[in-house]
Amino acid sequence: MKKIHLGIFDIHTPNQMTQGLWTHPANQSTRYKELAFWIELAQVLERGKFDFMFFADSYGYPHHKRELSYREAVYTPSNDPMLVISALAASTKHLAFVTTASPVYELPFPNARRFSTLDHLTNGRIGWNVVATGGISGAESFGRSGILPHDERYEQAEEFMEASYKLLEGSWEDDAVIADRGRRIYADADKVHVIQHSGKYYKMTASHASEPSIQRTPVLFQAGSSDRGRDFAAKHAEGVFLKAPTIEALRAQVQDIRKRAAAYGRGEGEIKIFTGLSTVVGRTREEAERKLAEYKAHRSREAALLTYENATGIDLSALDPDAPFEQIKTEQGRTHTERYTKHSGKVQSVREVSDNFAEKEFRGIVIAGTAEEIADQMQYWVEETGIDGFNLERYVLPGTHIDFVDHVVPELQRRGMFRQEYEEDTLRERLFGKGNTRLPNTHTGAAYRFSNS
Ligand SMILES: Cc1cc2nc3c(=O)[nH]c(=O)nc-3n(C[C@H](O)[C@H](O)[C@H](O)COP(=O)(O)O)c2cc1C
Repeated sequence: MKKIHLGIFDIHTPNQMTQGLWTHPANQSTRYKELAFWIELAQVLERGKFDFMFFADSYGYPHHKRELSYREAVYTPSNDPMLVISALAASTKHLAFVTTASPVYELPFPNARRFSTLDHLTNGRIGWNVVATGGISGAESFGRSGILPHDERYEQAEEFMEASYKLLEGSWEDDAVIADRGRRIYADADKVHVIQHSGKYYKMTASHASEPSIQRTPVLFQAGSSDRGRDFAAKHAEGVFLKAPTIEALRAQVQDIRKRAAAYGRGEGEIKIFTGLSTVVGRTREEAERKLAEYKAHRSREAALLTYENATGIDLSALDPDAPFEQIKTEQGRTHTERYTKHSGKVQSVREVSDNFAEKEFRGIVIAGTAEEIADQMQYWVEETGIDGFNLERYVLPGTHIDFVDHVVPELQRRGMFRQEYEEDTLRERLFGKGNTRLPNTHTGAAYRFSNS
């Protein structure tokens, strides 16, 4: 049986996935600003032999509806997730960490230095989620008048990757560091190359600040499933987070990415595909469903619709509920417009879309049941779609993940679907096998390696 990979998908704010759930008495998510909170969670996940902990990130909040945003904590307040990672690495041995850094806001040089630093400090347990962020609320904070059009953001992301590969793969040769006390030579300057980059979005003359780390390029993830997003994923991503409304749509997206990856000369299995999974575990199905209903009672519909607007630019509450939801154009994120158009298989009304979104928000597959039922469903989705793993989503923190680790993980292990022990050290090896610490030669980033020939 195919062994799966598991991560959790979280964010450093009180609310995620179900707006309003921060008010649930069992939810400790308002502790998101405490180091101890994240350490406790990381240790739970390491006990459950999880592959990684993934932190989404974004700047800004839906500032056109300030009162609602602050009242319901819709993406605000939020902290920088990157800063907690070295502390989490120190309190775990194996768990890896993936965090978002967006080409829309960051610059290649400091970004590469941060990831190299984390790769050193975590001993290769770091991944980078590259997103062509669509939300406009952060743009003004960076002095911009707005965001670039959708496909142009991916063009910008392409150039960001090129500049990053030059720094991470092409600046320092493997033997540049000599560290010979006797000869008083730390590094050989002839083997540290100056990168010249002059493109449409970025200009840079620099040597990479950090010496080579174990993985060099952090494991690359991507999370946009628009047409352009999938092409970007097929070229760059080693891990892809996909969400689709039906099993058929997910299967089609998985096949599409793998086909596009082959066209970029990448081998079978060079991309691991994850989908979102929300679980509620009970001793019986009824108990789990009761628990889920209790979580749902804490929802805020108005806050949920605001997150839709923030992601897509579309205010569902301002549209005629009986109008068909079609011919939708957005320059923000398209994953969640196409979910109700291209990938839904039928024309839905605005009311149907609003109801569905308020019910599910950005969640992936939702399963409430016993550990056996959850494992059955997970197995079914893997077999039917060809995905490689799941990204677990919170209802309440840390309770949702403690339940999963205590009850579902042993069931997956019993079926041979999940590791009993950690076997590899770096994140890339965990996903692609021992010895694969660096980007494979077939990856586009490998072309930027320094070569004497
Ligand atoms: C699992 C997952 C994680 C995501 N993480 C982030 C994130 O951290 N920051 C962000 O701005 N967008 C994030 N997104 C949103 C997508 O990257 C978003 O769709 C993006 O705007 C890409 O555009 P596209 O969907 O039109 O391709 C995430 C999406 C998914 C499914």
